[in-house]
Amino acid sequence: MTRLSLTTADPLTLKADALVVGAYQAADGPVAADERFAGLVAAAALAGATGKSGSVATIPGAGVAADRVVVAGLGKPTDADSGSAVAERADQVRKAAGAASRALAGQSKVVSTLSLLDDAAAVEGHLLGAYVFETYKKPGSAPVDAVVLTVPSANKAAKQTVEQATVAAESVAFARDLVNTAPNDLYPAEFADRAAAAARAAGLSVDVLDEKALAKGGYGGILGVGAGSSRPPRLVRIAYTPQRSKTTVALVGKGITFDTGGISIKPGAKMDQMTSDMAGAAAAVATVLGAARLGLPVTVIAYAALAENMPSGTAYRPGDVLRHYGGAPTGRGKTAPLGKTVHVLNTDAEGRLVLADAIVRACEDDPQYLLETSTLTGAQVVALGKRTMGVMGTPALRDRVAELAREVGEGGWAMPLPDHLREGLDSPLADLQNISGEPAGGMLVAGHYLAEFVADGVTWAHLDVAGPAFNDGKAYGYTAPGGTGVPVRTLLATLADLAGR
Ligand code: BES
Ligand code: MN
Ligand code: ZN
Repeated sequence: MTRLSLTTADPLTLKADALVVGAYQAADGPVAADERFAGLVAAAALAGATGKSGSVATIPGAGVAADRVVVAGLGKPTDADSGSAVAERADQVRKAAGAASRALAGQSKVVSTLSLLDDAAAVEGHLLGAYVFETYKKPGSAPVDAVVLTVPSANKAAKQTVEQATVAAESVAFARDLVNTAPNDLYPAEFADRAAAAARAAGLSVDVLDEKALAKGGYGGILGVGAGSSRPPRLVRIAYTPQRSKTTVALVGKGITFDTGGISIKPGAKMDQMTSDMAGAAAAVATVLGAARLGLPVTVIAYAALAENMPSGTAYRPGDVLRHYGGAPTGRGKTAPLGKTVHVLNTDAEGRLVLADAIVRACEDDPQYLLETSTLTGAQVVALGKRTMGVMGTPALRDRVAELAREVGEGGWAMPLPDHLREGLDSPLADLQNISGEPAGGMLVAGHYLAEFVADGVTWAHLDVAGPAFNDGKAYGYTAPGGTGVPVRTLLATLADLAGR
């Protein structure tokens, strides 16, 4: 990954391949974010710089020590008084830094002044913009090797800010790598192995249930969904248990390593994108590892519910009745009632089936809070688009998580769970059915399904990231094509927020 360092030296005097300066987009051309660089931005304007968000203009480094000057567009200046202006400005910096890093691939040393606007945002933007997934194809030019960030003072606080932002960016990269790994290479056992290796290396405790242990424990949802694949399912549990913790948070992630839809098979177009259907599990794992690196004073127990949804002679069928985990025959001390039964009407509504088992299990850890995330419904994309996650659950936490998602630049909006949409999940044959007779509000219906499995007294949120977890277009800002790492930074921000209570 790109290396970062801090400097308090005058950026104009630093030798480098490039000097990055920010410019806002005004009606009559770009305006330097810092008066000191007004001359450089004016020169770049003649060469076509606009200040438009995501734009990058390069001019020779005349009058500066660097070989060239890169003017990174910050977009239109935000209204200083608006409540969300701070977050908006941070994301402007993140995006500009991301676009600059990407444009500077192949360079060995870059000095950035974007850190003068927001140091944490500059760190995240530069690191995430430099991200490339190299496993299957070498990029034309290597990611920028070193970024030197200009700061007013390289004191302890500044260093700590940079360290924390680096952890956030590296956690995102970890999740992106998992999402970007092809489904032939990343199947449930392989995901579990990688997660377990990373967790053990970080000194966290890990438990992996394989198909035998899942059968013994009565995890009917995970086993049912995984039944069609020659590559059996797993349930991973990773616990970060710091001593000075008063709060326990459970993280639960959907880990469908590939979703064909199963017997209710999906159409062929874009089915390849279902390689990203484990993005929730990737985020849950990346977040618990990140929380540990940050030393957050909160207990975090992450679950990855892993299965491959395939059609085959052993696959589960529409019509099958599964029994979810609950009151395991082998016992976990507590005697919960037997798990709920579900009539499977569509094998493509598999995420909720693996998640229900994991949520019940996670609640046995007695968390105060449960954060679940999944690429759960196409309806999320229809309702909110590709860049805004839908957040459901206990109202206060739901609203806070949606707000934090916007603050970190991942985008989020609170969604209701209207009572009348719950009724469609009633089944004449079983406790529940996995799809509703009512086609409207699919994101909310799925939220209702999950709600059935959250233990009483647990404050919870469900983050549907079906759209935001995967960028099926070109790179923009600090977002590469493929896995985006959403919602890792939202989850980290939420844990930090809950730790502070
Ligand atoms: N993994 C999909 C949801 C999805 C769709 C994620 C598009 C990312 C992009 C999920 O398992 C699914 O297939 N959901 C169904 C549910 C339906 C059968 C009730 C859907 O959204 O169509
Ligand atoms: Mn599906
Ligand atoms: Zn799915």
